[in-house]
Amino acid sequence: MGEVTVTRFGYGAMQLAGPGVMGPPTDPDAAISTLREVVDLGITHIDTADAYGPRITNELIRTALHPYPESLHIVTKVGASRDEHGGWPPARGREDVRRAVQDNLEVLGLDVLDVVNLRLGDATGPQDGSLLEPFETLVELQQQGLIRHLGVSNATATQVAEARSIAPIVCVQNMYNLAHRQDDDLIDDLAAAGVAYVPFFPLGGFSPLQSSELSAVADRLGSTSMSVALAWLLQRSPNVLLIPGTSSSTHLRENVIGAGLVLSEDDLAALDRIGRPVG
Ligand SMILES: NC(=O)c1ccc[n+]([C@@H]2O[C@H](COP(=O)([O-])OP(=O)(O)OC[C@H]3O[C@@H](n4cnc5c(N)ncnc54)[C@H](OP(=O)(O)O)[C@@H]3O)[C@@H](O)[C@H]2O)c1
Repeated sequence: MGEVTVTRFGYGAMQLAGPGVMGPPTDPDAAISTLREVVDLGITHIDTADAYGPRITNELIRTALHPYPESLHIVTKVGASRDEHGGWPPARGREDVRRAVQDNLEVLGLDVLDVVNLRLGDATGPQDGSLLEPFETLVELQQQGLIRHLGVSNATATQVAEARSIAPIVCVQNMYNLAHRQDDDLIDDLAAAGVAYVPFFPLGGFSPLQSSELSAVADRLGSTSMSVALAWLLQRSPNVLLIPGTSSSTHLRENVIGAGLVLSEDDLAALDRIGRPVG
């Protein structure tokens, strides 16, 4: 990601908070040991946001890993807050963005954030509209030395282009997986521009990926659907970085090994049919 070097296999920390990404986890010790295992496995990219919990996920990361190893890069997000119903209302005014950066710094126990993504759109997906005000605010905070690198999330291709016309970005974090391939062109454009693409919900998020083609490929390889889905993303384009989420050390280890599967041309052709319209 730009001048930040991370392992292609990263870790998404969102699901460490309680149900609905609200409140503490049922087993905080398990969450802490999963985070420590992330680092022990050599993973150097953790994705988080102060809105997870809210604050809970960042508190767990700090408890588990502070002082952080030099190699570890924590990527966070601003642009959404939480309401009492667990919703994710936008928080993209100048003051919202400044406060969110300060909150991330304080709760994570950092003087500077490695990468901050401006999270756009809403829970239904990207929405059209200029990102000028919140993105310029992040650029100001970057110039003040509080942020090293910028990215955007849940963004349309037009918003990605707008951000890049204002300041360099190192990553785009959007929803993308075998069954949701709306960003195929964007991924290729970003690869050509040397910008990382970080799919969220790589395993389907709250509704795990299910498909007969995926199961058939997994069965043929003696593997699992989750492993094949991750391996497919890594083979999709060299600029793709993974941040699968799990609250389970067992799943974490399975995913690290599974993502290393090598898919043949036949496997890729079968998997390619999943996200394509029929006819
Ligand atoms: N920018 C945004 O707007 C945005 C939105 C959503 C997410 N994100 C980021 O993207 C990251 C990834 O998304 P996500 O965690 O929601 O979804 P995900 O990675 O697609 O899927 C996570 C789900 O898959 C399950 N899982 C993981 N490994 C498994 C395995 N080997 N076998 C069976 N089940 C497995 C997990 O359950 P267990 O806990 O039981 O393993 C969890 O329920 C998040 O952590 C967050 O950092 C960003």
